[in-house]
Amino acid sequence: MRATVTAHKDFTISAIDNRVYGAFLEHLGRAIYTGIYEPDHPTADKNGMRGDVAKLVKDVNIPVVRYPGGNFVSAYDWEDGIGPRDKRPTRLDLAWHTSESNAVGIHEFADWCATVVTEMMLAVNLGSRGVDEARNFLEYVNHPGGSYWSDKRIKNGRKEPWNVKMWCLGNEMDGPWQVGHKDATEYGKLAANTARAMRMFDKSLELIVCGSSNSDMASYPDWERIVLEHTYDHVDHISLHMYFANRDKNTANYLALNHKLETYIETVASTIRQVKSKRKSKRQVYISFDEWNVWYHSNQQDRKILEGNDGWPHAPGLLEDIYNFEDVLMVGLILNSFIRRADVVKIACIAQLVNVIAPIMTEKGGPAWAQTIYYPYYFASVFGRGTALNLIVNSPGYESAHAEKTPYVDVSGVHDEANGALTFFLVNRHATESIDTDVSLQGFATGKIVDHQVMTHSNLEAVNTAKKQTEVAPRKGSGASIANGTLSAKLPPYSYQMIRVKV
Ligand code: AHR
Repeated sequence: MRATVTAHKDFTISAIDNRVYGAFLEHLGRAIYTGIYEPDHPTADKNGMRGDVAKLVKDVNIPVVRYPGGNFVSAYDWEDGIGPRDKRPTRLDLAWHTSESNAVGIHEFADWCATVVTEMMLAVNLGSRGVDEARNFLEYVNHPGGSYWSDKRIKNGRKEPWNVKMWCLGNEMDGPWQVGHKDATEYGKLAANTARAMRMFDKSLELIVCGSSNSDMASYPDWERIVLEHTYDHVDHISLHMYFANRDKNTANYLALNHKLETYIETVASTIRQVKSKRKSKRQVYISFDEWNVWYHSNQQDRKILEGNDGWPHAPGLLEDIYNFEDVLMVGLILNSFIRRADVVKIACIAQLVNVIAPIMTEKGGPAWAQTIYYPYYFASVFGRGTALNLIVNSPGYESAHAEKTPYVDVSGVHDEANGALTFFLVNRHATESIDTDVSLQGFATGKIVDHQVMTHSNLEAVNTAKKQTEVAPRKGSGASIANGTLSAKLPPYSYQMIRVKV
């Protein structure tokens, strides 16, 4: 089989906002406790943060981490997580039917972000609380000093404000599972009032209002329209979430799910345009896709705890999906979609980062390792920075549950002008056929291939474990070449590759 791709230097989509390679950490399961924080761990630093985990995180060069939830935030009192540890209360977390010790709060998280060199994106609680908690939290985090909350921060050991720019106005408020769930009008009014108050403190904040929890919600996409009608003049992004699953073991349909993702993005982009024109506004609202990942492997095993049949455990294993090789392809496809929609998606966060539906796993007292999906996330974040190219792709395809034609070859291209590099991320969705792919490089003074990474495996269900940490891992590719301005590569069946060309 053959496919052709045309990449022209001047045929671009948009500059890629680096923050599309963000991540998410929630007080959920073992994400925080025995994930990033484990004071007794042999690699722990003076703050009790695991050094082995910090290294894996730092390697990905993650621009932003969203915190502290998720569903957790909708009944969270941020004040519980400040001050002397031995005075912090243990609370019941209604979202995940667990106990929260509050040993980690905003100070510990901020220090960890400095260690791994990332920016914080904080969510305020608009479920059980409202404008007051948001303005107080903001004052605590961002005011230099001389006020009630900022002086408390200083007393608690942090003199300089953190100057957090990105703030989420609640989480998934359309979901009946959310503490303090609201309808679109109620939420839209509350979000607008909260945003107004936050902007009275600092006009330059980037505020993110909740869109739909997923595109199967009955309220979607009216939710976006109504919420934006209330908030358009006060917010910068609307947040979308989507989780991917292959419950019926149908790989062809599973790997076509990014059609559904792209339809979701386009629908919300058109809702933004609709509200913008109705309001005759000059303001541009973008999409923050601040929760995305594969999530289904652990559903069954989590039931007992989530249904409340295990009491209120502290940091139990929850949402610990063990990712397989098939999920590498899915995550590569999702990231390709975000690159192709770089014009509207300006923030995206893999959900989550450690232990909980995460690319990084740990054992308490033991090792930390990269799950299979770590690698496509790593390659996109490290090499996918620059300008998204508008590629013309000609590939054979198949009919799936999500589209009339799903091309076997899915590809995104990024021109990193500053570093003189052109990077392609390619997925072959075909089960048995290799695809000879020619990429015509137009308008580029092409040099040589400087990096070529390939991921294949004979078993779609192969996984990485503590004992076999590199069962699924990238290897150096071979056989790709450039001649007469055309990059040629053979894409093996069910494969992911990253090819970087000097230009
Ligand atoms: O990431 C897990 C959960 O998924 C989050 O807490 C919630 O926002 C979403 O439903």
